[in-house]
Amino acid sequence: MAAACAPRRRVAVSDVAFQRCISPDCGETYALDDARVACGRCGELLDVAYRWNQAPTPKSLKDFEAKWARRSDPLCFSGVWRFREMLPFAPPGKIVTVGEGQTLLQQSDVAAKYIGVNGGRLYLQYEGMNPSGSFKDNGMSAAFTHAHMIGAERAACASTGNTSASLAMYCSVTGLMRAVIFVGSGKIAYGKLSQALEFGALTVQILGDFDDAMARVKEVAGQLGIYLVNSVNPFRLEGQKTIMFRVLEALAWQPPDWIVVPGGNLGNSSAFGKAFVELKELGLIDRIPRLAVINAVGANTLYELYEKRGLRWNGGRPDATIIDGYHRELDQAKRKADTIASAIEINRPVNLKKCLRALDACDGVVREVDDQQILDAKAKVGAGGFGCEPASAASVAGAKRLREEGVIGADERVVCILTGHQLKDPTATVAYHSADQEMFNNILGKRGVRRASFANRAVVVPNELDEIIKAIRLYG
Ligand code: F0G
Repeated sequence: MAAACAPRRRVAVSDVAFQRCISPDCGETYALDDARVACGRCGELLDVAYRWNQAPTPKSLKDFEAKWARRSDPLCFSGVWRFREMLPFAPPGKIVTVGEGQTLLQQSDVAAKYIGVNGGRLYLQYEGMNPSGSFKDNGMSAAFTHAHMIGAERAACASTGNTSASLAMYCSVTGLMRAVIFVGSGKIAYGKLSQALEFGALTVQILGDFDDAMARVKEVAGQLGIYLVNSVNPFRLEGQKTIMFRVLEALAWQPPDWIVVPGGNLGNSSAFGKAFVELKELGLIDRIPRLAVINAVGANTLYELYEKRGLRWNGGRPDATIIDGYHRELDQAKRKADTIASAIEINRPVNLKKCLRALDACDGVVREVDDQQILDAKAKVGAGGFGCEPASAASVAGAKRLREEGVIGADERVVCILTGHQLKDPTATVAYHSADQEMFNNILGKRGVRRASFANRAVVVPNELDEIIKAIRLYG
């Protein structure tokens, strides 16, 4: 019989994928079905690692285009799983998809002008178009699949809102698991809280912020044997790699010059770095884009450590005294994260070390932007027609800063990741555009926001036809 007709050798996923400690001094490995979020030997983060020579990898990124013709197959339709050869840890029968990752790379000349790059050079990756309205669905689909593979019955997370909305959605759509979510009190935008509540998650609101909730959920999940889906879970990051595959896909597989992403718990930036390193290792790209991670001023741990105190990946041995010293300072000053961009209101990013590795691999930079810059950038993105939540606009505000500094060149191709949908946090948007000074002060003024330079105010008119027509003639 001709070789072409012979059945392809089936390889068990456990022969291909395993987990490995990120520390080069440890490097301990764990089986695929081990549910853990830290190395049992040294406590460091874990990676999902692959024996690529055991799995069928594409010869060229163009090979993925064959999937476009097979959109009726849910695994080809999904913007995560159509790239499953790049995250080969799940047997197809166990993969959980709800159609995540149907997102757009949109060229935006409004944003290009605002940032100061040439027309046609600025792109916005609209991750708000995911089923639960944020990029989290990419990673959740992967972590949820792993949880399903190992037979988990409950899954938990701490969240500034989007992770919990995503987990709650996967649980309620599939009925496979019960969601337990931890949120800080008063710290989560209503759009996100409303999702978790309506999707039926057990919602534990603790008196504290995200950093407190994160520390607690790790304890609770460990004690009760609940599967943890925060981005300390290495499988989450495997799903988030696909955001970069879709960016490349939309650019005809040509890497841009810059990827600019907001930084909170630093899962995305870590995943993006891993994606590019793997693509390069496999010979699928010849150049890695530069990475810019943007903190909010009120939650700027990465900026402080990387740009001010010189912390570096250093071949896998970052200087722990710098990190510990900074954490001690935060504790002594009782400093809590505080920004209108509540999604990234995080002072102790769990993926710090993986992010340092990504910055190293991608010749990265870190910047901080204040709430005024975030909201002005957000208004500009919205004026371009799609809209995003405040944390997402940090990427655009950060790109503007980097352009002003001359770090980003006017003719470079820049992709800003818009991580969450505009409707996630309508409070910030309405306060910015409102003519109600009291509302502005209560919500934005107390955070140092002074102006709404790009506000589109509602026109208030008496309920009289002549007055309405007059107003439309005047402003229309
Ligand atoms: N943008 C949005 C809209 C987010 O929800 C988050 C994180 C980030 C950016 C930061 O991404 O953690 O990968 O650096 N939200 C998490 C949550 C923390 O709980 O929903 P990161």
